[in-house]
Amino acid sequence: GAAPAARTVHPLEMANGTRLWLVTGYGPVRQALSDPRFAKDSWEIMRILRDRRIQAHQEIFSQALSHHMLNTDPPEHHRLRHMVNKGFTLRRVQRLRPRIEQITDQLLDAVQGQDSVDLIEALAFPLPITVICELLGVPEEDRRTFRSWTNAFVLAVEPEVFRDASVAMNAYIRELVAAKRAAPGDDMISALATEDSESALDDEEIAAMAVLLLAAGHETTVNLIGNGALALVTHPGQFAALRADRSLLPGAIEEFLRFESPVNQATMRFTKEPVEIGGVLIPEDEFVMVNVDSANHDPERFPQPGRLDLKRDARGHVSFGHGIHFCLGAPLARLEAEVVFTKLLDCFETIELATPVAQLEWRSSTLMRGLESLPLRM
Ligand code: HEM
Repeated sequence: GAAPAARTVHPLEMANGTRLWLVTGYGPVRQALSDPRFAKDSWEIMRILRDRRIQAHQEIFSQALSHHMLNTDPPEHHRLRHMVNKGFTLRRVQRLRPRIEQITDQLLDAVQGQDSVDLIEALAFPLPITVICELLGVPEEDRRTFRSWTNAFVLAVEPEVFRDASVAMNAYIRELVAAKRAAPGDDMISALATEDSESALDDEEIAAMAVLLLAAGHETTVNLIGNGALALVTHPGQFAALRADRSLLPGAIEEFLRFESPVNQATMRFTKEPVEIGGVLIPEDEFVMVNVDSANHDPERFPQPGRLDLKRDARGHVSFGHGIHFCLGAPLARLEAEVVFTKLLDCFETIELATPVAQLEWRSSTLMRGLESLPLRM
Protein backbone atom coordinates (compact mmCIF):
# COMPACT_ATOMS: atom_id res chain seq x y z
CA GLY A 1 0.00 0.00 0.00
CA ALA A 2 0.91 3.66 -0.09
CA ALA A 3 3.42 4.89 2.47
CA PRO A 4 1.77 6.93 5.26
CA ALA A 5 2.05 10.69 4.68
CA ALA A 6 4.86 12.30 6.68
CA ARG A 7 3.65 14.33 9.65
CA THR A 8 3.93 18.02 9.09
CA VAL A 9 2.73 19.51 12.39
CA HIS A 10 4.50 18.56 15.60
CA PRO A 11 3.73 19.71 19.18
CA LEU A 12 6.93 20.53 21.08
CA GLU A 13 7.57 21.12 24.78
CA MET A 14 10.55 23.46 25.34
CA ALA A 15 12.87 23.15 28.36
CA ASN A 16 11.36 26.32 29.91
CA GLY A 17 7.85 24.87 29.70
CA THR A 18 6.83 26.80 26.57
CA ARG A 19 4.59 24.77 24.29
CA LEU A 20 5.09 25.25 20.56
CA TRP A 21 3.73 23.74 17.37
CA LEU A 22 6.31 23.18 14.66
CA VAL A 23 4.92 23.40 11.12
CA THR A 24 6.96 21.80 8.32
CA GLY A 25 6.53 20.93 4.62
CA TYR A 26 5.71 23.19 1.66
CA GLY A 27 1.89 23.24 1.80
CA PRO A 28 1.46 23.67 5.56
CA VAL A 29 4.25 26.30 5.74
CA ARG A 30 2.63 28.39 2.99
CA GLN A 31 -0.73 28.06 4.75
CA ALA A 32 0.66 29.09 8.14
CA LEU A 33 2.43 32.10 6.62
CA SER A 34 -0.63 33.43 4.82
CA ASP A 35 -3.71 32.30 6.79
CA PRO A 36 -4.96 35.26 8.89
CA ARG A 37 -5.83 32.93 11.78
CA PHE A 38 -2.06 32.64 12.33
CA ALA A 39 -1.36 36.07 13.79
CA LYS A 40 1.68 38.16 14.78
CA ASP A 41 0.55 41.07 17.02
CA SER A 42 3.19 41.54 19.73
CA TRP A 43 0.75 42.95 22.35
CA GLU A 44 -1.33 39.75 21.96
CA ILE A 45 1.84 37.66 22.29
CA MET A 46 2.53 39.48 25.57
CA ARG A 47 -0.96 38.61 26.81
CA ILE A 48 -0.47 34.91 26.03
CA LEU A 49 2.98 34.89 27.67
CA ARG A 50 1.52 36.52 30.80
CA ASP A 51 -1.47 34.14 30.91
CA ARG A 52 0.88 31.22 30.68
CA ARG A 53 3.33 32.76 33.16
CA ILE A 54 6.21 32.48 30.70
CA GLN A 55 8.83 34.98 31.78
CA ALA A 56 11.53 34.17 29.27
CA HIS A 57 10.42 36.22 26.27
CA GLN A 58 8.40 38.96 27.96
CA GLU A 59 11.35 41.35 27.75
CA ILE A 60 11.25 41.13 23.99
CA PHE A 61 7.55 41.62 23.37
CA SER A 62 6.89 44.24 26.03
CA GLN A 63 9.01 46.76 24.11
CA ALA A 64 7.24 49.29 21.91
CA LEU A 65 10.28 48.91 19.68
CA SER A 66 9.13 45.38 18.84
CA HIS A 67 5.69 46.55 17.79
CA HIS A 68 6.61 47.14 14.15
CA MET A 69 4.89 45.95 10.97
CA LEU A 70 6.30 42.44 11.22
CA ASN A 71 4.70 42.10 14.66
CA THR A 72 1.28 43.56 13.88
CA ASP A 73 -1.90 42.28 12.21
CA PRO A 74 -4.35 44.05 9.89
CA PRO A 75 -5.55 46.76 9.87
CA GLU A 76 -2.56 48.17 11.79
CA HIS A 77 -0.13 46.20 9.64
CA HIS A 78 -1.57 47.70 6.48
CA ARG A 79 -1.25 51.25 7.79
CA LEU A 80 2.40 50.77 8.84
CA ARG A 81 3.45 49.00 5.64
CA HIS A 82 1.67 51.52 3.46
CA MET A 83 3.83 54.31 4.88
CA VAL A 84 7.05 52.83 3.47
CA ASN A 85 5.83 50.63 0.62
CA LYS A 86 6.53 53.13 -2.13
CA GLY A 87 10.16 53.44 -1.09
CA PHE A 88 10.77 49.77 -1.82
CA THR A 89 9.07 49.14 -5.16
CA LEU A 90 11.12 47.43 -7.86
CA ARG A 91 11.37 50.70 -9.82
CA ARG A 92 12.49 52.82 -6.90
CA VAL A 93 14.99 50.22 -5.80
CA GLN A 94 16.48 49.85 -9.31
CA ARG A 95 17.50 53.51 -9.13
CA LEU A 96 19.92 52.55 -6.36
CA ARG A 97 21.91 50.27 -8.70
CA PRO A 98 24.71 52.75 -9.59
CA ARG A 99 25.28 53.58 -5.92
CA ILE A 100 25.28 49.89 -4.95
CA GLU A 101 27.83 49.21 -7.71
CA GLN A 102 30.00 52.07 -6.51
CA ILE A 103 30.01 50.86 -2.89
CA THR A 104 30.76 47.29 -4.04
CA ASP A 105 33.70 48.52 -6.17
CA GLN A 106 35.12 50.51 -3.28
CA LEU A 107 34.86 47.55 -0.93
CA LEU A 108 36.51 45.21 -3.44
CA ASP A 109 39.26 47.75 -4.19
CA ALA A 110 40.08 47.90 -0.51
CA VAL A 111 41.02 44.20 -0.44
CA GLN A 112 42.80 44.07 -3.81
CA GLY A 113 46.03 42.11 -3.72
CA GLN A 114 45.31 40.44 -0.40
CA ASP A 115 46.12 36.76 -0.21
CA SER A 116 42.95 35.75 1.54
CA VAL A 117 39.81 37.79 2.12
CA ASP A 118 37.00 37.32 4.63
CA LEU A 119 34.06 37.98 2.33
CA ILE A 120 31.69 38.63 5.24
CA GLU A 121 33.80 41.39 6.77
CA ALA A 122 34.99 42.81 3.46
CA LEU A 123 31.72 42.90 1.51
CA ALA A 124 28.71 40.90 2.69
CA PHE A 125 28.32 42.89 5.92
CA PRO A 126 29.33 46.44 4.93
CA LEU A 127 27.40 46.65 1.64
CA PRO A 128 23.82 46.09 2.87
CA ILE A 129 24.33 48.12 6.02
CA THR A 130 25.72 51.06 4.04
CA VAL A 131 22.79 50.93 1.62
CA ILE A 132 20.03 50.71 4.25
CA CYS A 133 21.66 53.44 6.37
CA GLU A 134 21.85 55.77 3.37
CA LEU A 135 18.19 55.10 2.57
CA LEU A 136 17.12 55.80 6.12
CA GLY A 137 19.54 58.65 6.73
CA VAL A 138 21.64 57.08 9.50
CA PRO A 139 25.09 58.73 9.79
CA GLU A 140 28.01 56.56 8.72
CA GLU A 141 29.96 56.97 11.95
CA ASP A 142 27.16 55.33 13.97
CA ARG A 143 26.91 52.11 11.97
CA ARG A 144 29.44 50.02 13.85
CA THR A 145 27.82 50.99 17.17
CA PHE A 146 24.42 49.66 16.38
CA ARG A 147 25.73 46.48 14.76
CA SER A 148 25.97 45.00 18.27
CA TRP A 149 22.37 46.06 18.99
CA THR A 150 20.84 44.54 15.86
CA ASN A 151 22.98 41.43 16.45
CA ALA A 152 21.26 41.09 19.82
CA PHE A 153 17.86 41.14 18.10
CA VAL A 154 18.60 38.21 15.80
CA LEU A 155 21.17 36.09 17.65
CA ALA A 156 20.51 33.71 20.53
CA VAL A 157 21.16 36.06 23.48
CA GLU A 158 19.93 36.33 27.07
CA PRO A 159 16.78 38.46 27.59
CA GLU A 160 18.85 41.05 29.54
CA VAL A 161 21.22 41.50 26.62
CA PHE A 162 18.19 42.00 24.38
CA ARG A 163 16.73 44.54 26.81
CA ASP A 164 19.97 46.55 27.05
CA ALA A 165 20.30 46.60 23.26
CA SER A 166 16.67 47.75 22.91
CA VAL A 167 17.12 50.55 25.43
CA ALA A 168 20.29 51.79 23.75
CA MET A 169 18.83 51.53 20.26
CA ASN A 170 15.59 53.22 21.30
CA ALA A 171 17.44 56.19 22.80
CA TYR A 172 19.63 56.48 19.72
CA ILE A 173 16.75 56.33 17.22
CA ARG A 174 14.57 58.73 19.23
CA GLU A 175 17.37 61.29 19.13
CA LEU A 176 17.82 60.74 15.41
CA VAL A 177 14.08 61.21 14.72
CA ALA A 178 14.09 64.47 16.71
CA ALA A 179 17.13 65.70 14.78
CA LYS A 180 15.49 64.83 11.43
CA ARG A 181 12.30 66.60 12.40
CA ALA A 182 14.29 69.75 13.21
CA ALA A 183 16.41 69.55 10.04
CA PRO A 184 14.93 67.08 7.52
CA GLY A 185 17.16 65.52 4.88
CA ASP A 186 16.40 63.55 1.71
CA ASP A 187 15.91 60.23 3.48
CA MET A 188 13.20 57.90 4.74
CA ILE A 189 13.32 58.78 8.46
CA SER A 190 12.98 62.48 7.59
CA ALA A 191 10.03 61.65 5.31
CA LEU A 192 8.30 59.69 8.09
CA ALA A 193 9.05 62.35 10.71
CA THR A 194 7.63 65.19 8.61
CA GLU A 195 4.61 63.35 7.15
CA ASP A 196 1.44 65.18 8.13
CA SER A 197 -1.32 62.99 6.66
CA GLU A 198 -3.94 61.29 8.81
CA SER A 199 -2.01 58.03 8.83
CA ALA A 200 1.30 59.63 9.94
CA LEU A 201 3.30 57.61 12.44
CA ASP A 202 4.05 58.78 15.98
CA ASP A 203 7.63 58.85 17.31
CA GLU A 204 7.41 55.41 18.84
CA GLU A 205 6.17 53.93 15.56
CA ILE A 206 8.89 55.66 13.55
CA ALA A 207 11.52 54.33 15.94
CA ALA A 208 10.13 50.78 15.66
CA MET A 209 10.00 51.08 11.86
CA ALA A 210 13.59 52.32 11.69
CA VAL A 211 14.82 49.49 13.91
CA LEU A 212 12.98 46.88 11.84
CA LEU A 213 14.34 48.25 8.56
CA LEU A 214 17.87 48.57 9.90
CA ALA A 215 17.90 45.06 11.33
CA ALA A 216 16.03 43.37 8.46
CA GLY A 217 17.98 45.40 5.90
CA HIS A 218 21.37 43.99 6.75
CA GLU A 219 21.19 41.01 9.11
CA THR A 220 19.59 38.97 6.31
CA THR A 221 21.28 40.14 3.11
CA VAL A 222 24.72 39.50 4.61
CA ASN A 223 23.69 35.84 4.73
CA LEU A 224 22.35 35.75 1.19
CA ILE A 225 25.74 37.00 -0.03
CA GLY A 226 27.73 34.74 2.32
CA ASN A 227 25.67 31.59 1.79
CA GLY A 228 25.50 32.20 -1.97
CA ALA A 229 29.26 32.66 -2.22
CA LEU A 230 29.83 29.49 -0.20
CA ALA A 231 27.47 27.57 -2.50
CA LEU A 232 29.45 28.82 -5.51
CA VAL A 233 32.92 28.04 -4.21
CA THR A 234 31.88 24.55 -3.17
CA HIS A 235 30.40 23.87 -6.65
CA PRO A 236 33.17 24.97 -9.06
CA GLY A 237 31.44 23.46 -12.12
CA GLN A 238 28.35 25.61 -11.52
CA PHE A 239 30.56 28.63 -10.81
CA ALA A 240 32.15 28.19 -14.25
CA ALA A 241 28.75 27.72 -15.93
CA LEU A 242 27.44 30.90 -14.34
CA ARG A 243 30.56 32.81 -15.34
CA ALA A 244 30.03 31.68 -18.91
CA ASP A 245 26.32 32.50 -19.01
CA ARG A 246 25.27 35.49 -16.92
CA SER A 247 21.64 35.13 -17.91
CA LEU A 248 21.57 32.35 -15.30
CA LEU A 249 22.29 34.80 -12.46
CA PRO A 250 18.74 35.87 -11.42
CA GLY A 251 17.69 32.21 -11.25
CA ALA A 252 20.91 31.34 -9.40
CA ILE A 253 20.10 33.92 -6.71
CA GLU A 254 16.68 32.31 -6.20
CA GLU A 255 18.42 28.94 -5.88
CA PHE A 256 20.87 30.37 -3.30
CA LEU A 257 17.84 31.62 -1.35
CA ARG A 258 16.12 28.23 -1.55
CA PHE A 259 19.22 26.12 -0.91
CA GLU A 260 20.44 27.91 2.25
CA SER A 261 17.84 30.44 3.27
CA PRO A 262 19.15 33.39 5.36
CA VAL A 263 16.11 33.16 7.65
CA ASN A 264 15.91 29.42 7.66
CA GLN A 265 14.67 27.88 10.83
CA ALA A 266 11.52 29.52 11.90
CA THR A 267 9.33 32.52 11.85
CA MET A 268 6.72 32.73 14.59
CA ARG A 269 2.96 33.01 14.65
CA PHE A 270 0.21 32.40 17.22
CA THR A 271 -3.29 31.02 16.65
CA LYS A 272 -6.14 33.55 17.02
CA GLU A 273 -8.65 30.69 16.99
CA PRO A 274 -8.44 26.88 16.65
CA VAL A 275 -6.99 26.04 13.22
CA GLU A 276 -6.68 22.76 11.40
CA ILE A 277 -3.44 22.45 9.49
CA GLY A 278 -1.71 19.39 8.05
CA GLY A 279 -4.52 17.27 9.50
CA VAL A 280 -3.82 18.50 13.06
CA LEU A 281 -6.06 20.80 15.11
CA ILE A 282 -4.06 23.50 16.89
CA PRO A 283 -6.07 25.16 19.69
CA GLU A 284 -6.43 28.94 20.18
CA ASP A 285 -3.58 31.03 21.68
CA GLU A 286 -0.84 28.58 20.82
CA PHE A 287 2.62 29.52 19.51
CA VAL A 288 3.50 28.20 16.08
CA MET A 289 7.00 27.93 14.65
CA VAL A 290 6.93 27.92 10.85
CA ASN A 291 9.98 26.17 9.43
CA VAL A 292 11.05 27.90 6.22
CA ASP A 293 13.83 25.46 5.39
CA SER A 294 11.55 22.43 5.39
CA ALA A 295 9.35 24.09 2.75
CA ASN A 296 12.33 24.98 0.59
CA HIS A 297 13.61 21.41 0.91
CA ASP A 298 10.30 19.62 0.46
CA PRO A 299 11.09 16.96 -2.20
CA GLU A 300 7.53 17.07 -3.52
CA ARG A 301 7.96 20.72 -4.47
CA PHE A 302 11.71 20.81 -5.24
CA PRO A 303 12.99 17.41 -6.42
CA GLN A 304 16.39 16.42 -4.98
CA PRO A 305 16.25 19.42 -2.68
CA GLY A 306 19.70 18.85 -1.19
CA ARG A 307 21.30 19.37 -4.61
CA LEU A 308 22.34 22.88 -5.53
CA ASP A 309 21.20 23.37 -9.12
CA LEU A 310 21.55 26.91 -10.41
CA LYS A 311 19.48 25.99 -13.46
CA ARG A 312 16.45 24.74 -11.56
CA ASP A 313 13.30 26.85 -11.26
CA ALA A 314 13.56 27.78 -7.58
CA ARG A 315 10.77 30.35 -7.70
CA GLY A 316 8.09 29.65 -5.16
CA HIS A 317 10.63 29.24 -2.33
CA VAL A 318 9.50 30.85 0.91
CA SER A 319 12.78 32.48 1.93
CA PHE A 320 11.12 35.92 1.75
CA GLY A 321 7.99 34.62 3.47
CA HIS A 322 4.51 34.52 1.94
CA GLY A 323 1.28 36.48 2.40
CA ILE A 324 0.88 39.94 3.90
CA HIS A 325 4.28 39.90 5.65
CA PHE A 326 6.12 38.97 2.43
CA CYS A 327 9.51 40.66 2.65
CA LEU A 328 9.31 44.37 1.89
CA GLY A 329 13.03 44.42 1.06
CA ALA A 330 13.05 41.51 -1.42
CA PRO A 331 13.73 43.72 -4.49
CA LEU A 332 16.57 45.44 -2.65
CA ALA A 333 18.11 42.19 -1.39
CA ARG A 334 17.94 40.67 -4.89
CA LEU A 335 19.54 43.76 -6.43
CA GLU A 336 22.38 43.83 -3.90
CA ALA A 337 23.04 40.13 -4.53
CA GLU A 338 22.94 40.63 -8.30
CA VAL A 339 25.50 43.45 -8.12
CA VAL A 340 27.81 41.53 -5.78
CA PHE A 341 27.78 38.26 -7.73
CA THR A 342 28.19 40.09 -11.04
CA LYS A 343 31.31 41.83 -9.69
CA LEU A 344 32.71 38.62 -8.23
CA LEU A 345 32.18 36.77 -11.52
CA ASP A 346 33.68 39.69 -13.51
CA CYS A 347 36.72 40.12 -11.33
CA PHE A 348 37.71 36.58 -10.41
CA GLU A 349 38.29 33.60 -12.66
CA THR A 350 38.37 31.22 -9.74
CA ILE A 351 37.44 31.58 -6.10
CA GLU A 352 38.51 29.03 -3.51
CA LEU A 353 37.86 28.52 0.14
CA ALA A 354 40.88 29.42 2.26
CA THR A 355 39.60 27.15 5.08
CA PRO A 356 38.18 23.60 4.94
CA VAL A 357 34.36 23.65 4.85
CA ALA A 358 34.17 21.71 8.11
CA GLN A 359 36.04 24.51 9.90
CA LEU A 360 33.69 27.29 8.85
CA GLU A 361 31.76 28.72 11.78
CA TRP A 362 28.03 29.44 11.55
CA ARG A 363 26.45 32.15 13.70
CA SER A 364 24.55 30.94 16.71
CA SER A 365 20.95 31.95 16.05
CA THR A 366 17.53 30.34 16.05
CA LEU A 367 16.44 32.73 13.34
CA MET A 368 19.29 33.29 10.91
CA ARG A 369 21.47 30.95 8.92
CA GLY A 370 24.76 32.68 8.20
CA LEU A 371 28.52 32.38 8.48
CA GLU A 372 30.68 34.16 11.06
CA SER A 373 33.34 34.50 8.39
CA LEU A 374 34.10 33.20 4.90
CA PRO A 375 37.83 33.24 4.13
CA LEU A 376 38.37 33.08 0.37
CA ARG A 377 41.33 33.08 -2.02
CA MET A 378 40.36 35.01 -5.13
C1 HEM B 1 9.87 40.40 6.20
C2 HEM B 1 13.48 37.54 4.73
C3 HEM B 1 16.02 41.40 3.24
C4 HEM B 1 12.72 44.25 5.29
C5 HEM B 1 10.61 39.30 5.87
C6 HEM B 1 10.17 37.93 6.05
C7 HEM B 1 11.19 37.13 5.67
C8 HEM B 1 12.27 37.98 5.21
C9 HEM B 1 11.23 35.61 5.71
C10 HEM B 1 8.81 37.47 6.58
C11 HEM B 1 8.84 37.04 8.00
C12 HEM B 1 7.52 36.52 8.50
O1 HEM B 1 6.54 36.38 7.74
O2 HEM B 1 7.44 36.21 9.69
C13 HEM B 1 14.46 38.34 4.18
C14 HEM B 1 15.64 37.85 3.51
C15 HEM B 1 16.35 38.93 3.09
C16 HEM B 1 15.61 40.12 3.49
C17 HEM B 1 15.98 36.38 3.33
C18 HEM B 1 17.65 39.03 2.36
C19 HEM B 1 18.14 38.11 1.61
C20 HEM B 1 15.35 42.52 3.65
C21 HEM B 1 15.76 43.87 3.41
C22 HEM B 1 14.84 44.66 4.04
C23 HEM B 1 13.83 43.81 4.62
C24 HEM B 1 16.98 44.30 2.61
C25 HEM B 1 14.81 46.17 4.16
C26 HEM B 1 14.73 47.01 3.37
C27 HEM B 1 11.68 43.43 5.70
C28 HEM B 1 10.48 43.94 6.35
C29 HEM B 1 9.67 42.84 6.62
C30 HEM B 1 10.38 41.68 6.13
C31 HEM B 1 10.20 45.39 6.66
C32 HEM B 1 8.31 42.85 7.29
C33 HEM B 1 7.23 42.96 6.26
C34 HEM B 1 5.83 42.93 6.85
O3 HEM B 1 5.65 42.57 8.02
O4 HEM B 1 4.91 43.31 6.13
N1 HEM B 1 11.90 39.30 5.33
N2 HEM B 1 14.48 39.71 4.16
N3 HEM B 1 14.17 42.52 4.37
N4 HEM B 1 11.59 42.08 5.57
FE1 HEM B 1 12.96 40.91 4.75
